Order: sequence, then structure tokens, then C-alpha cells
Amino acid sequence: MNTTTSADIRHTEGQRPAWSVKIVLALLVVLGGTGCGATPPAWFRLNMVEATKQKLTSDQERQVATLLAAMFGTPDDPVALPETGLDEAKLRLAAGPVRSDIVGRKNGLYREHCAHCHGVTGDALGPTAAFLNPYPRDYRPGIYKFKSTERADKPTHADMTRILKNGIPGTSMPSFALLSETQIDALVEYVKYLSIRGETELGLIRAYFELDDDAEGKLPETREFLVGEVLEPVAEKWKTAADALIPVPEMPADIDMVASIAKGRELFYGDKANCVKCHGPTAMGDGQANDYDDWNKTIVEWTKEVVGTDDKQWASRAHRVLDGDSLEPRTIPPRNLRRGIYRGGRRPLDLYYRIHAGINGAPMPAAKGTVPPEDIWHIVNYVQSLPYELDGELGADRPMVARDRF
Ligand code: HEC
Ligand code: HEC
Repeated sequence: MNTTTSADIRHTEGQRPAWSVKIVLALLVVLGGTGCGATPPAWFRLNMVEATKQKLTSDQERQVATLLAAMFGTPDDPVALPETGLDEAKLRLAAGPVRSDIVGRKNGLYREHCAHCHGVTGDALGPTAAFLNPYPRDYRPGIYKFKSTERADKPTHADMTRILKNGIPGTSMPSFALLSETQIDALVEYVKYLSIRGETELGLIRAYFELDDDAEGKLPETREFLVGEVLEPVAEKWKTAADALIPVPEMPADIDMVASIAKGRELFYGDKANCVKCHGPTAMGDGQANDYDDWNKTIVEWTKEVVGTDDKQWASRAHRVLDGDSLEPRTIPPRNLRRGIYRGGRRPLDLYYRIHAGINGAPMPAAKGTVPPEDIWHIVNYVQSLPYELDGELGADRPMVARDRF
């Protein structure tokens, strides 16, 4: 066992006298030593795909689990270091087993409402996940799709709140509009916590690669490294998400809608925006459809590596991980834009965000840089007209829309 203590990391020795006890308990959970009889406490699963991909030894896997427990606590007892910018009180409302406190306030919201899809760890390996298409979001890489910020930036707190209130139409992600503002707020905070934890885990696993020989395969257990080098850069991106809002020019109030839709259509089928490449000549998603999103691509590419290897021992370990710690990869079809169902919201503004920045984690590219900002409104108007465009208007150069394909 190694010697990291929370005091190294937290700088707040004395405030939490029970800390070392907690670490030992966390370790017991992580190492699976839970005794028999009672239901074992919930535990965070290690990112086995990444750990196996980077060929970590079991000692190294244990070190990652120990460091993460020291920095983030456990599913029943989350810790928010000040550098995360997270509010521990909110996390406590969302974390833990489903229960009511002394004043009848519901706790354990995440496990009640989200974990069966998104998993206790936020790895999208909940028991329901395999049945769903699309799969639930794996929060660990910190990549989100439906937001008001530039493509590579984090969603704002308000973006996530919207998603929770509206759900994601056309997918199994439900609306949680019936929960109170405080509850939704706590859940958003908890999703951020799982993401920051997941990204920190990836940072730690990848850091073994850069170790000097004299480190003997062990990560430094200093505050400077763990918090300064690994955690803070991750947390910073979450804290500054609202600085990366997409600038949206006003749609001219006196816009000629017929002309705008015609211009939008030209752009849609033109070389620059090239929406037709994926959404297809009918805009029903009949273009290029053999691509994967980032989450599935990781698995597809790694599978190829595993299958192609001569190292039998590693291959058999990797196969076990692929079977137990990941879902069968699926391609991501470009959307049928004639159905008028928009996952990220159906306000013209939502479509503007989607087209400007593309969809992070998905193959859908950003129009930013290729289409001038004002012209994106023309594309928005055209996209909004698609569910109502008459078959006859598709033009002789494009196939007719077969209604039975809806
Ligand atoms: C029945 C399954 C299910 C449940 C329950 C569920 N989700 Fe989801 N969730 C999904 C699916 C599926 C997606 C992915 C949709 C997609 O990729 O288009 C998703 C995506 C998300 C996203 C990502 C949005 C983005 O912009 O990328 C967040 C955040 C999220 N869910 C939070 C939650 C929270 C918090 C809860 C509990 C309050 C919850 N979900 C409950 C299925 C579920
Ligand atoms: C490289 C392929 C590709 C190109 C090019 C592309 N898209 Fe997409 N688009 C996709 C995929 C894949 C999805 C589904 C993403 C998902 O489900 O997360 C999508 C989804 C969408 C959505 C649905 C958004 C939502 O909230 O549900 C809209 C609208 C859209 N695209 C419009 C466009 C427009 C307009 C263009 C051209 C400016 C374009 N796309 C170019 C692949 C592409």
C-alpha cells in the first residue's frame, strides 16, 4: 500500500480528523474487501479499457485507484477538493444510496434517477445501457454534445440544466423537469464531478508513459503533481466554460424567409458546408453513415490493435476487458433531418449552435470558419423547413423521398 494521505492533497489537515480512516475504508472498497452478508458499498470502477490499453501493471492500477479515492472519495462519500470548484454539499445530495435524511429530504438522487443508464461511475455501463441506442453518455472523457459553447469546450452549468429539464428528444434520456431546481442543480454538479474525476483518471493513467526510469513505474504522490499538473488543468476548463460561449449574430428581423431558405439550401448542398455529404441527397441521413462517435471509435480502434497483436497474454486480458467493460460498438448515423426531432433542442438558437460548432464527440463538423456567421441563419432556416418541404420540390437531380422510410 502506498503512503498518500489526504493532507498532502487537501492542505486542510485538522478539518477532517477521520480522513485516514476514510482512506482505508475507500481502499477496502476499491480492493473489493467488503466482507460477506451485507450488500457491499458502491464503488467506482477503474477505467479498464484505458488501463489495459496503456498496459498498466496491477500495482499501477491499484495506485490509480488509491490516488483517485484520496482525491475524489467514493460514491457514498464524495470529496471535492477546492481546486475542482465543485460544491461538496450539492454532491452529497446527489451521491450515495437512495435515502431520506432527518428532515425527509431525498438523497442519493444520482443512483435513483441516472445510474441504471449512466452507471455509478458515470462510465455508461449501467445495467440498462446495453439495450439503448444511442448508448448513454460516458462522462469520463468529459465530452458533451449539446451546449452553447465552442466545440471543444465544456458545457456551462446552464446547458446541463437545460438537458436535464428537457431530456434528449429521440433518445432514451428522459426529462427530469419534475425534480426541484435544487435537485437538478445537485445532479448537474454530480455529473461534473464524475467527469472531472474521469478526466483526472485518464490523466493519471496516461502519465505512466512519461515517467523517468528512476520513478520505477510509480507516479509521484505529491500535491504539486496530482493537483497542480493533473487535476487543475481539467477543473480549469470546467470553471471557464462560460467564457467560451458561441457568439450569435441577430437574425435580421426583416429577413425574407423564402430567399433565406433558398440560400440555406444552396449552402446545404454546396462544397463549403457540404451537409449533403452525410445527411444525404434526401436529407434523410442517407449520406456517409459508416462512421463512429469518439466513444465507440476508441473501442473499435483498440479492438483492431488487440486482434492484430502477437502478444497472446495481453490479447486475452484485453479481450476480457472488451467483453466486460465496454459495449458492442455501433456506428452513428447522420440524422434524418426530415423528422424535425432535434436532440439538442429545437429553438432556432439551438440549431445555430449545432451547425456553428458541429457536435463534439460525433462526426458532425463545425460550419464555423467555412460559412460566415450570418449565413448560418440561412442554413438554420432551411433545416427547419425540411420536415415540411414537399417531395416535388426536391428537384429532378435528387431521388424522391419514400414516405415509408420515415
Ligand atoms: C433511460 C436511460 C437514461 C437515464 C435514466 C438517464 N440518461 Fe442521461 N443520457 C441517456 C442517453 C441515451 C444519452 C445520450 C444521448 C445522445 O448521445 O444523443 C444521455 C446523455 C446525457 C448527458 C449528455 C448530454 C450531452 O450534451 O452530451 C447528460 C449530461 C446526461 N445524460 C445526464 C443524465 C442525468 C444527470 C440523469 C439522471 C438525472 C440521466 N442522464 C438519466 C440516457 C439516460
Ligand atoms: C461528416 C458528417 C456530417 C456532416 C458533413 C454534417 N453532419 Fe449533421 N450530423 C451528423 C451526425 C453523425 C449527426 C448525429 C449526431 C448525434 O446523433 O449526436 C448529425 C446531426 C445533425 C443535426 C441534429 C442536431 C440535433 O440537435 O439533434 C442537425 C440539425 C445537423 N446535423 C445539421 C447539419 C448541417 C446543417 C450540416 C452542414 C452545415 C451538417 N449537419 C453536416 C453528421 C454530419
